[in-house]
Amino acid sequence: MNEANENPPENPARACALRIGDPAPDFEARSTVGPVRLSAFRGRWLILFSHPADFTPVCTTEFIELAKRAGEFEQRDCALMALSVDSLFAHFAWLRMIRDRFDVEVRFPIVEDPTLVIGRAFGMVSAQDNDSAAVRTTYFIDPHGVIRAMTCYPANVGRSTPEMLRTLDALQAIDARGGLAPANWQPGEALLSAPTHDLDEVYGAKDATGWFIDRGEEGAA
Ligand code: BEZ
Repeated sequence: MNEANENPPENPARACALRIGDPAPDFEARSTVGPVRLSAFRGRWLILFSHPADFTPVCTTEFIELAKRAGEFEQRDCALMALSVDSLFAHFAWLRMIRDRFDVEVRFPIVEDPTLVIGRAFGMVSAQDNDSAAVRTTYFIDPHGVIRAMTCYPANVGRSTPEMLRTLDALQAIDARGGLAPANWQPGEALLSAPTHDLDEVYGAKDATGWFIDRGEEGAA
């Protein structure tokens, strides 16, 4: 290791990045539905997601899809909140274009973050640079205000609305029933039971995998 690498400077972007289990930083900001405060969403689920810029192709497709399926998030008692550095008036113009061109009204709030202060607090943009192009970060925030899952996509790949719903369903099912959601889990499928920490139960399991692959309770999520 050369001298320059012995004490690498702390990466400020990394230092501010949030992790699963962290409380979501509170903020108050202007949005397309009026002033919003993150902590006002306590008691419900909230999906807070950033997009790189208004009036861009992939972002437009994401907003159309999310607006079309907003009712499905509502059914799960989950609010949606978007965020970008664009001004409130750019948000309005973009939503008007989406309504006129695609016949879809986006009714969930889109927050303006022109100073990047929110994006930086959440690690959506680098703390160092002034590039406003936030990546497509999505935070699943539980009713206690705790970050329970997050995803990060590059600007050139759009998010999957079905996968956002599935992640939310899995988190809610685990909270309601305990257990673990296996790969490709879908609502209505069984959850796995948490594996034992007791060696006697490992040896006492009915077969070699029975102590960690237990289908748990069957039934709908
Ligand atoms: C888009 O949403 O299409 C996009 C946004 C920023 C950079 C590249 C693409």
